[in-house]
Amino acid sequence: MNDDVSRETPSAPDVARRVFPSARLPLAERYAELLATDGVVRGLIGPREAPRLWDRHLVNCALLAELIPPDAAVCDIGSGAGLPGLVLAIARPDLRLTLVEPLLRRTTFLEEVVADVGLTSVEVVRGRADALHGQRRFDVVTSRAVAPLERLLGWSMPLVAPEGALVAMKGSSVTEEIEAARAELERWGCTEPEVLELGADPELSTTVALRMAWADPGQVSWPLAAAPSGGSSKQNMGRKRGTTNRRRGA
Ligand SMILES: C[S@@+](CC[C@H](N)C(=O)[O-])C[C@H]1O[C@@H](n2cnc3c(N)ncnc32)[C@H](O)[C@@H]1O
Repeated sequence: MNDDVSRETPSAPDVARRVFPSARLPLAERYAELLATDGVVRGLIGPREAPRLWDRHLVNCALLAELIPPDAAVCDIGSGAGLPGLVLAIARPDLRLTLVEPLLRRTTFLEEVVADVGLTSVEVVRGRADALHGQRRFDVVTSRAVAPLERLLGWSMPLVAPEGALVAMKGSSVTEEIEAARAELERWGCTEPEVLELGADPELSTTVALRMAWADPGQVSWPLAAAPSGGSSKQNMGRKRGTTNRRRGA
């Protein structure tokens, strides 16, 4: 452990007690320590993030938990150093998390944290989100800072179960992203995205999340795959064309 960075690791602020169950707070503290030490040394998180890990990262990501139903299977795509996927696994032991991340040094860190913290319901998958298309589906597909909504839809929606949802953490440009993604939202057959401000408590910094689902779950069929932009895509778009391939790959 590098002493210079470890000295910057702040212990859990009071506000963390509002988003992590007390029994899970020690796990969150250990994760914060690993992020601020190994995570910084290995270049997975910027050194300037260490003093604000709780406010900008752990608490923000934990707020997303309120959008996830009990006992859900959750896929976090582009997990990086585990945000928000590992935070959700810590805050919500009822969830089953699959963390999808293409870069080896990031999946190595994720696996080390899972083992160190003792998380039993987390699976780390090295690969791109589209590698799971047609193979897996989830109640909720999460992401933070992975891609603009337009592209995120193609990576995420093929992983969303018929009654499931895409839940993405977004920044201040969320409205512009939705407008830019209008054509893709239509092509995928999504509900109108809900923009949700989480953490109304003034002591919590606000997290903006987008949530959308299939507009017509009964019309979703498998396998789904991202259709090339502008292509003749209906057969790949997950809208049921007949009954023959419905639920294939389930
Ligand atoms: C800016 S980082 C965000 C990491 C983390 N979600 C966070 O908020 O700190 C984007 C991550 O998405 C991953 N990524 C890029 N393309 C991807 C894809 N097609 N499928 C899954 N992950 C991807 C990158 O390797 C990277 O770790």
